[in-house]
Amino acid sequence: MILVTGASGYVGNNLVRRLVELGKPVRAMVGNLDKALVRLGDVEPKIEIVKGDVTRPETLVEWMQGVEAVIHLVAISMEKGKRTYEAINTQGTINVVDAAKAAGVRRFINMCQNGASANSPYRFLRSKGVAQEYVAQSGLDWTATRPTVIWGPQDEFANVQARLIKLTPIAFPIVGDGKAQFQPVYVGDVVEVLVSCVDDPSTIGHEYELGGPEVLTYEEIVDRVLKALHTSRIKVHVPVGLLRPLVAIMQAVFPNPPVTTSLLDLLAVPNVVAENALVTRFNITPKPFTPDNLSYMRDFSLTTTLGKFFGRSLEEEKVRRAAMHKH
Ligand SMILES: NC(=O)c1ccc[n+]([C@@H]2O[C@H](COP(=O)([O-])OP(=O)(O)OC[C@H]3O[C@@H](n4cnc5c(N)ncnc54)[C@H](OP(=O)(O)O)[C@@H]3O)[C@@H](O)[C@H]2O)c1
Repeated sequence: MILVTGASGYVGNNLVRRLVELGKPVRAMVGNLDKALVRLGDVEPKIEIVKGDVTRPETLVEWMQGVEAVIHLVAISMEKGKRTYEAINTQGTINVVDAAKAAGVRRFINMCQNGASANSPYRFLRSKGVAQEYVAQSGLDWTATRPTVIWGPQDEFANVQARLIKLTPIAFPIVGDGKAQFQPVYVGDVVEVLVSCVDDPSTIGHEYELGGPEVLTYEEIVDRVLKALHTSRIKVHVPVGLLRPLVAIMQAVFPNPPVTTSLLDLLAVPNVVAENALVTRFNITPKPFTPDNLSYMRDFSLTTTLGKFFGRSLEEEKVRRAAMHKH
């Protein structure tokens, strides 16, 4: 049995579906059961869906029984109230590691992050870095993956640009000089690496940086999204210092803000990898971030975009309806 934490998340639901395809028994641990039923409804009869909160160790113990490997994906990139980086990304990981050890589980695959370090000046990257240090010192048979930003139909990175473009019909604001560097990696490629790690003992004790096939500036990413949408905009460069107060207001007003001040900070750190293990270690040809591969963005409607930023996304609405129907 493979226990996947954060199983209904973006990477999680793609990973669970791939594990099922490969005939692996999966226990999908989620925070919100209703959301999980929407995201994983199609494979639900073939997996075990369980509820666990990484901040409450007592909810984890039971789900470690009979588990051969844990793939730990839970983390947050946007904080909300008590859901802080330290509580979920760091202490949450410590709790999952401790629960695995207590139950005698040996294999542990941790989803870290490119640039994460216990010494990072950025709280998000530091929270993931401290967590990875704990994993590496746990005595478990661990492997860690460190992807750059992950793109795909459900991502919160390129799709945010596409939605913002739909909201800004003439001019589109480019953050800073637009030269911040990224190396977007496709979700399916990251999933393939996680899956191969499970059965490959030679990956034990290693951290793998994973990136896409090319380094792109933020402005080049926007250009590709514009091409994918078959549209154009006048690009206006807005200094980060000017955007910060606007983003802070947006953060206070929108239930699901497209960007937060702490994510804005991260633009200062190039999100590229020195050695791309996706290619050098796992022999995967990374899927490129091209307008053709982004064509799914053309289906985003203005209504779902507004719903996503100002209130509930379509998916959340489905979750709400499913919950109402049930109760
Ligand atoms: N997306 C990227 O670009 C990217 C890049 C590099 C690394 N990563 C790493 O990849 C992993 C997965 O990212 P993702 O993009 O798939 O994130 P995601 O879609 O936000 O999924 C994370 C999941 O964690 C669950 N969760 C949050 N708090 C929880 C808690 N207290 N207890 C139990 N579950 C909790 C959430 O489930 P509920 O909603 O059910 O609570 C959510 O579905 C993370 O470790 C992230 O740091 C992501």
